[in-house]
Amino acid sequence: MTNPTEQILSFLYKNKDVYTSGQAMANELSVTRAAIWKCIEALRGDGYEIESAAAKGYRLASVPDLLGEREIRLGLDTKYLGCEIHSLAEVDSTNSYASKLAAAGAPEGTVVVSEHQTAGRGRLGRKWVSPPGVNIYVSVILRPEVPPSDAPMVTLAASVPLTRAIKAYGLPAAIKWPNDVLINGRKAAGILTEMSAEPDLVRHIVLGVGIDVNMQKGAFPKELKETATSMMMELGGRVDRAGLLRRFLSELEGAYGMFTRGEKEAVLNGWRELSCTLGRDVKVSTPSGETKGRALDLDASGGLMVELEGGRVETLTSGDVGFV
Ligand code: BTN
Repeated sequence: MTNPTEQILSFLYKNKDVYTSGQAMANELSVTRAAIWKCIEALRGDGYEIESAAAKGYRLASVPDLLGEREIRLGLDTKYLGCEIHSLAEVDSTNSYASKLAAAGAPEGTVVVSEHQTAGRGRLGRKWVSPPGVNIYVSVILRPEVPPSDAPMVTLAASVPLTRAIKAYGLPAAIKWPNDVLINGRKAAGILTEMSAEPDLVRHIVLGVGIDVNMQKGAFPKELKETATSMMMELGGRVDRAGLLRRFLSELEGAYGMFTRGEKEAVLNGWRELSCTLGRDVKVSTPSGETKGRALDLDASGGLMVELEGGRVETLTSGDVGFV
């Protein structure tokens, strides 16, 4: 990192609990005090709140609520997730954008994030409501060396870090099969994975995640008002989106590592621990009809095992779960 503004920002971020004098920063970063002052003014112009106190120096008080590459990189502790970050003001769908990048050879770990989606997609052909500036819409390019039949497990594996990242804010998040994240029974986040594959090998997977972060109740369309929620609605306060995204990417790197190392049982156990589905009476809507019964467990590939009336167990591989 050679750009002095980024160096200064990173330094202030790491030392955000204390004041640092301009001279100490200049010594540490081998730049002049005049350069420090100029960069601090530039950062303030970009919306960074940097306090200065006589005889104490500077302290980073707040970061703008943006999903820019700079805001995301600040404190990102991943090894390869986020190796490339494409931050867009607006896009049709981050999944579509990431698919094109992946087809053109973008490396594993490339992240596409946007402030706004004009044609956000959800599971089962649904639309994903994606207003500007309040939520997270992110897609991650993955290139696991596995057969296409193993790909659904990636989605399942990703729902665990997603839930953990939301729980880290003190919210009682849990997973509704296969990968909806609910808070207090309402959906706050979802995952849509799209794959490009040859018969025996996955070329790439685009893992698309939408999190309703700072969305207000009034911003949800009528049909979602009773079933959807946002982290802010549940917490009663705004969430720092870049910090949440970093936390998710960091957790995801761990969970995806388990998947690529073939630790399937650990992935499944992580999911079981965070599930609000197992043990419940459910009705699962699939294209071929509705199945009602008790959700028993996941099978080895992540299918939902449902015990029907009469005791027969059916395993479902896709569908929409409702609680009864
Ligand atoms: C679901 O239906 O639960 C899945 C929602 C996935 C939405 C995300 S937002 C980022 C990415 N881009 C899209 O068009 N969809 C996914």
